[in-house]
Amino acid sequence: MTNLAAIELAPACGTTSIDAVRRFLGGEHRKLEAHFGRALEALADGDPSAWGRFREKLLRHIGIEERILLPALREARGGDPDPLAARLRLDHGALAALLVPSPTSRVLGTIAGILAEHEPREEGPGGLFASADESLASRAPSIVERMQLAPSVPVSPHNDDPRVLPAVERALSRAGYRLLARSEASAAIERLCEIVSLASGGELPGVVPS
Ligand SMILES: [Fe+2]
Ligand SMILES: [Fe+2]
Repeated sequence: MTNLAAIELAPACGTTSIDAVRRFLGGEHRKLEAHFGRALEALADGDPSAWGRFREKLLRHIGIEERILLPALREARGGDPDPLAARLRLDHGALAALLVPSPTSRVLGTIAGILAEHEPREEGPGGLFASADESLASRAPSIVERMQLAPSVPVSPHNDDPRVLPAVERALSRAGYRLLARSEASAAIERLCEIVSLASGGELPGVVPS
């Protein structure tokens, strides 16, 4: 009797285990946005340390989605990958490539632009997390536990070799993006900042060297 009451109450409280993946990874998105905003401000002050933390956390997040969530969904679908998997992997590849060179305004703006498109693909109606809610159901809590235990990712120092930027542009092109011009980059950062309420009208990107 007690258990039944708890089950009936759970959806109203928004604490069902079914949406554990959505809540965990959606929460990670909010934290990543906050880290990105802090890193922009720190870079503008000449401090790269917060950018280093953002790189590590974004790469870990991508690793969790690629190594834990997408395989779990494929298994739940009898071996068929989630319809969004290929699209999301291209986005992840573009984001990972953009973390290799030093964070210029163009690099930062392009990352902001991709995040603004990528997160709704995961969190929006019909997105990856909706698939997780539907397909993983009671397995969701144990999958989240694996996500929480995922190790941090070793991050290499920035590489500004002349061959890096062309490689970044190829990864962007494969995913349907391009490296934004400096003026476009500023607008993309402002848009993302508006979305996540990080900006209060300050000039975040303009002071980062291009
Ligand atoms: Fe993702
Ligand atoms: Fe994500």
